[in-house]
Parts: sequence; structure tokens; C-alpha cells
Amino acid sequence: QELQLNLEQIEKGGYDHFMLKEIHEQPTAIKDTYRGRMLPDEGLIRMAGVDDNLERIANAKRILIVACGTSWHAGLVAEYIFEELARIPVEVEYASEFRYRNPIISEKDVIIAISQSGETADTMAAIKLAKEKGAFAFGVCNVVGSSISRETNAGAYTHAGPEIGVASTKAFTTQITVLTLMALKLAKHNGTISNTDFRTYLQELELVPGKIEKALEADEHIKYISDIYKDARNCLYLGRGFNFPVALEGALKLKEISYIHAEGYPAAEMKHGPIALIDEEMPVVVIATKKGHYEKVVSNIQEIKSRKGKIIAIVTEGDTEVRELADHVIEVPETIEPLTPLVTTIPLQLLSYHIAVMLGKNVDQPRNLAKSVTVE
Ligand code: AGP
Repeated sequence: QELQLNLEQIEKGGYDHFMLKEIHEQPTAIKDTYRGRMLPDEGLIRMAGVDDNLERIANAKRILIVACGTSWHAGLVAEYIFEELARIPVEVEYASEFRYRNPIISEKDVIIAISQSGETADTMAAIKLAKEKGAFAFGVCNVVGSSISRETNAGAYTHAGPEIGVASTKAFTTQITVLTLMALKLAKHNGTISNTDFRTYLQELELVPGKIEKALEADEHIKYISDIYKDARNCLYLGRGFNFPVALEGALKLKEISYIHAEGYPAAEMKHGPIALIDEEMPVVVIATKKGHYEKVVSNIQEIKSRKGKIIAIVTEGDTEVRELADHVIEVPETIEPLTPLVTTIPLQLLSYHIAVMLGKNVDQPRNLAKSVTVE
């Protein structure tokens, strides 16, 4: 028993929980994801799974992304990135819904399955269905040799290393990294990105791990904020554009490990319903980084403030405008807009982690959840 405990301590590498360890591993995990694939000096991206099937993927009439949970959120971020860079229409579906609604799939479609475990039953079934209808299946998995990675025609591993905490963290950011590389590669091939922009993306992506390190430095401040809001019954998360899926992900993290009810919304949807929930009891986490509809998000923040909601804003370093309005700000380093999810996600992971720890919850193994969902 004692030996077992010590072994677990070693595996946690000095951290109290696997989740915290995995949050802190993200700078390294992202480097591992792009190492050998991204060659900024040569202005090149090499991905065997894409290179070997370049025409098939680049000429897709449509890309369908299927996934569940956090992986589905990564798919939503990818939708924005693929459409922005490669100009290929993308649809993102919950794997469980996709397979039960007789979807229209043609041989010109490419289906991307995103799955950390590579064992999620619904995602696996969605891939099989799409393949039967002639689509080309591409897998983005973390676990090497997993069922989904074997079932797909080609793929790219995330190389995040083992993720033990049930709440997915480094899998999410590495999935976004792989999908960004893929989108950039297709964009270059299809001529929808200039050489200059392509290089800028590679250079910026290379800076992301350092920026995540910087974002992690807000840990103590986030702990302080967590202590104030740990007894909240509900929480709203708002974001726009590339950061709308990050709002969904932040809410999911809080729900699954602290059991606090949380909802993620596109910030502009607030006025169509959720605004009715706002009062002095309601913490609202808003992703308000400089680019990406900044002014619009600022006016959303004003609406929350005038209804006495408590505002926790994720802002770009040096921001002064939101600081004047929000109850708390958490700064993240600036990067180009499509890459902001990689840094804005970090404080949201830490916020949910600290709240769950303060509430005495089992962070690594939350109730009712399993690391891989192999039932349909
Ligand atoms: C994430 O924190 C969840 N535990 C869960 O939503 C997970 O992302 C989902 O079950 C999908 O798993 P997969 O990536 O292994 O397919």
C-alpha cells in the first residue's frame, strides 16, 4: 500500500494532482506536438499523414469533424481555424448525434475524428459510418495504437504524453496545435495563405509554449480569485470567435471537477436569454483578449456590470479598458488571434482546478466520469 502511494507520488512529479501536472506540462507537450513537423526556418510543415494524402484532403468538398466533450471543443476551434486559413467548409458534430441521424456523406468528404483516448465508442462508430459511405477518415488521437487511430485511413498523433486526470487539459491544447498545423499545411497547398502569413504563423506558434509559461505565472492570483468564488452555485463563461469554444471548455472543466453548474455561451448570445440570470450572485468569466471583437466584448462586460454580475476577465497583457470594468482580470500574453485559445485556456483550467481543490473534490477522478467512455 505504502509502495503504491509512493509510486503515485513519483508519477505526479511533485504536483498534488495529475491534473495540475498536466496543466503545467502544456508548454512541453505543445513543443512535442510540433517538433519535427514545423520547420519555421524553411517555411515548411511536414506531417506524414497529411503529406501522403495531400490531394485527397486538400480537395475535400467539406471537412466533417466528429468528437465528444473536450475533443469536440477542440474541433470547434479547428472549424474557425480551417475556414479562416484553408477556406474549406467545416462542420463539427457531436459523434453521438452524427451517427444517429442518417447524415449526408459523400466520397468527397473528409472526416476528422478527434479523441485523446482513441477509444471513445461514439467517435469510433461515427468514423465507421463515414467510411462506409466513402469518406476519407483522418484521426487526431493521443494514445498511440488506439482503436480510432487504427480505424482511420491516416492521422496525426498529438504526442501529449499520457493524460491521467479525467479532466482533459494538455490533450485539448495539443489537439488544437495539430489541427492548426494541418490547416496551415492545407492553406499553403491551396494557396489561401501568403508566404509571409504562413511564416508568421509558424513563428508565432513557436512562441506559444513560452507564452503559456507566462500565463501559468498567474497561478497565485487565480488561487486568490478561486477562493472568492468557490461557493458560487452557478457560473457563466463567455467568449467570441476563436474563443467561444474556450468558453465552453472553461465551463465544462468547472462542471466536471467542482460540480458547480456552469454554462458557456458566445458572448453575443447573452442578450438572447442568459442575461436574465445575471445578478450579484453570478460570476461571469469573460474572455476579452485584445483582438477578436474586443469592443463588442467590452460592451457585453458593461451589460453584465450594470446588472451587478461579478466579472472575471481574461485579458491581454497591459489591457487597461477592461481592468476598469471587471472585478478581476487575469492577464495572458498577446498572440495572433487564431492562436489565442492556446493561451486563454490556461487560466480557465487553473480556475476550475483551484476551486475543486478548495471544495475538497476528487480532482483527478471526479464522480460519475471515466477517462475513456467506451459505452455508447
Ligand atoms: C474532458 O475533460 C472530459 N473528461 C471528456 O469530455 C472527454 O474529452 C471526452 O469523453 C472525449 O474523450 P476522448 O478525447 O478520449 O475521445
